[in-house]
Amino acid sequence: MLPAIKNRRSVFPQFFTDQPVEEASIEALLEAANMAPSHKKTEPWRFRVYTGAGRDQLSQTVKEVYEAARAPEVRDPKVAPKFAKKIDQSPVVIAVFLHRDPTGSLPEWEEVAAVACAVENLWVSLDHYDLGGYWSSPGFLCGRYGQWPDAEDNERCLGLFYLGHYEMPDLPRPRGAWEDKVIWTK
Ligand SMILES: Cc1cc2nc3c(=O)[nH]c(=O)nc-3n(C[C@H](O)[C@H](O)[C@H](O)COP(=O)(O)O)c2cc1C
Repeated sequence: MLPAIKNRRSVFPQFFTDQPVEEASIEALLEAANMAPSHKKTEPWRFRVYTGAGRDQLSQTVKEVYEAARAPEVRDPKVAPKFAKKIDQSPVVIAVFLHRDPTGSLPEWEEVAAVACAVENLWVSLDHYDLGGYWSSPGFLCGRYGQWPDAEDNERCLGLFYLGHYEMPDLPRPRGAWEDKVIWTK
């Protein structure tokens, strides 16, 4: 197996260190994401990168989106602080967006799949820069088109990717046998 695939893992914000992440590394990760495949070359991935003081704006946006998505009587007061803490623990947070082809040339699933390919490119690249991270997809953030402040009507958030340098024990990542997920016809 390719080392980049073997070494890809979810690293959660509590394991991030204070070591700053070089902007050049972030750019290289986004360049890798941008090499993802997409049907009809619609390139439907979009990213918003939050670092430094920009993360305060992200915490505020997450709070606003949560409050817009949940009526006051069902809101959990712990949600916004929980996300603010994760954002604060993360040197870099990348909000992931689906940008639907305005001509509607493709079914949505194909463009969602292309965005996931882009995120996977980024994710498998992290190890090269001694970075770790994970993709978080809270339901309230990933629901509707245009709900993110400033998002276009054809843009929908598909979650947050938290990343940073990290110190974490090497935990097992069990998987069911690949043989059980494959049907061969010979
Ligand atoms: C589309 C997608 C959404 C995910 N959303 C979440 C999430 O909201 N919360 C979470 O803890 N992990 C989330 N994950 C990470 C998975 O939990 C993780 O990849 C899985 O447990 C396997 O662990 P590994 O990445 O270390 O191999 C998501 C992964 C994907 C691909």
